[in-house]
Amino acid sequence: MKKQAAPAQLPLPDDAASLRELAVRSMFDLFSSVSEGMMLLDRAGRVVWINEGYKRFLPALGFAGPEDFVGRPVEEVVPNTLMRHVLETGKPILIDLLTNKAGTFVVSRIPLRDASGEVIGAIGMVLFDHPETTLQPLIAKFARMQQDLDEARRELAAQRRTKYTFASFIGSSPAALEVKRQARRAAQTDSTVLLLGETGTGKELLAHAIHAASARAERPFIGVNLAAVPETLMEAEFFGVAPGAYTGADRKARDGKFKLADKGTLFLDEAGDMPLALQAKLLRALQEQEIEPLGSNKVIKVDVRVIAATSRDLKAMVADGRFREDLYYRLNVLPVRLPALRDRLSDLEALAESLLESIAARIGMPQRELSPSALAVLATHRWPGNIRELRNALEQAAMLTDNPRLVAEDFAQVLPAPSVLGEARKAGPLRPLPQLIAELERSSIQSALVATGGNKVSAAKLLGISRATLYEKLGAEK
Ligand SMILES: Nc1ncnc2c1ncn2[C@@H]1O[C@H](COP(=O)(O)OP(=O)(O)OP(=O)(O)O)[C@@H](O)[C@H]1O
Ligand SMILES: [Mg+2]
Repeated sequence: MKKQAAPAQLPLPDDAASLRELAVRSMFDLFSSVSEGMMLLDRAGRVVWINEGYKRFLPALGFAGPEDFVGRPVEEVVPNTLMRHVLETGKPILIDLLTNKAGTFVVSRIPLRDASGEVIGAIGMVLFDHPETTLQPLIAKFARMQQDLDEARRELAAQRRTKYTFASFIGSSPAALEVKRQARRAAQTDSTVLLLGETGTGKELLAHAIHAASARAERPFIGVNLAAVPETLMEAEFFGVAPGAYTGADRKARDGKFKLADKGTLFLDEAGDMPLALQAKLLRALQEQEIEPLGSNKVIKVDVRVIAATSRDLKAMVADGRFREDLYYRLNVLPVRLPALRDRLSDLEALAESLLESIAARIGMPQRELSPSALAVLATHRWPGNIRELRNALEQAAMLTDNPRLVAEDFAQVLPAPSVLGEARKAGPLRPLPQLIAELERSSIQSALVATGGNKVSAAKLLGISRATLYEKLGAEK
């Protein structure tokens, strides 16, 4: 409460101490009369007094009258009470819900101190009985919030549940069957899996499937794309942030991916794109299975199964110092190499069939068929973007025609020209080299973007340049 300046014309009473005494007493009397019941405990935690109001509760607590109740240790007569805690800590519990065999009550518990500040007892008050009626609006609001929270938690769990199983990995070619066999075996273990393969070969799909077939299936699957997280945020993203680690707006604690993946699977996508500084920290976390949130000096134990994926040549990166050798061995426990689409063309038809079905469902149009001529054209393509590229090609062809059956011609505009270099050479008389190089660069970038469905990160990977370089070149074209 705010202190108010005493009006100048009124002198202070002679005896301020007795006034305070009076205030204390009238407060006590006030609460004793407005509350539903009140009790006093001594230092030892024995009930020494109850007021008239409190007597009402005695039958429900199993006592005929005050003589059996008063004089006993409080926990013996009031189940679930926290009065002892208040005596021991000297800290009040100003408002709380107490439930026992007599019902649910809104209670308040206050320690009593002597002149020297020593705790000499405690007051317990029942502010409301039947809170379900008196506090109905509050309780209803609380119940609603609780319900919203439960719902959000359920949704989150559903989102984290895996999207794919081994059955979603289409293919019966020897190469596809071998990959599935290895992945199934990996799912039986808790070892780290390293998924290798070109862009669009299904590494992410397989990571989900391994998790879904593992003993951790009911636990979260948490993915981090290392090519998409800015370097400065990576540590916080992985290890989390302790409360107050940053000043300013973001002072709340935040769980990192390791913590979120506890008892589940952590998917390190594009693991080859990890900066060296983070590699050292990640190695430590993987070895010790413990993490230290930013700005905290406590370590947290975690239990995560790691699946890493990359389309980069990690061995070559180790050789020229861009990837730590020790981390490479840590990740390369169970390597699984996904075949390129061009190396399992016998799966093309089944893949196309399955992709056309999912495309039809997504765009809400009837499912298309592939004519033999279309299949033949698709089989001559090199598919640098693999199954993602196939999906994009099918979707674009389906958008270009209403024909229920896709034919070879429908793919003429969709698939990039077979050889960019050939085109550049065809272009007529010799021209200055810089001009030719610029044209080649431009058409290569366009082909890569077509192959990856406009995904710049994947396109950059396909071209073997950094994302920044790709953006730079795209910018220069405008
Ligand atoms: N065997 C398969 N059967 C059916 N669909 C597949 C298969 N493999 C991949 N796909 C589909 O192809 C697309 C690309 O797959 P995914 O994202 O798993 O590739 P990736 O290897 O992780 O590629 P990147 O290295 O570019 O991240 C997805 O739409 C996926 O569903
Ligand atoms: Mg991927």
